[in-house]
Amino acid sequence: MKRIAVYPGSFDPLTNGHLDLIGRASALFDELVVAVLTNTGKEEPLFSVEKRLAVLREVLRSQRNVRIDQFEGLLVDYVRSVGACAIVRGLRAISDFEYEFQMALMNRHLCGQVETFFLMAGEAYTYLSSRLVKEVAQLGGSVHGLVPPQVEALLEERYGRARRRKGKG
Ligand code: PNS
Repeated sequence: MKRIAVYPGSFDPLTNGHLDLIGRASALFDELVVAVLTNTGKEEPLFSVEKRLAVLREVLRSQRNVRIDQFEGLLVDYVRSVGACAIVRGLRAISDFEYEFQMALMNRHLCGQVETFFLMAGEAYTYLSSRLVKEVAQLGGSVHGLVPPQVEALLEERYGRARRRKGKG
């Protein structure tokens, strides 16, 4: 039986920490589905779902057992719909734990057959988050080495252009 896991998230934007985790998880399962949540209800996303999916597809195109998809609604319903047995989430520091613990137990309450696996990203990424990448890029700092080149280019396009316009005005 094929062991499929789902790695869900917003990926807004994709970071090298996410990629590290995808590498680790894809080595443990027959197939890893990286699933972008489309209805976050959070603040306005930085990049559209289409753009985030396109970046993921491009960056991960050579990874044979990784599939990119999107989902809405309950995660466990999506996990069941793709025949997966596991959810993969990354843990960076203790501060992640409470939120992740609540989500894992809620998902277990909703569907006892699906297990959540927590993986630690490499030490180099313990301080890295999409939120901080956005903030640094917006304020003109370098995110080189923290995100894949495709994301760096998109951030430059988004914020660099705005800064140059401001500089001229
Ligand atoms: O990368 P993120 O934004 O921390 O990912 C959060 C995500 C997508 C895993 C989480 O918001 C989620 O699973 N949303 C789907 C809604 C759901 O199933 N909620 C109830 C169980 S906690």
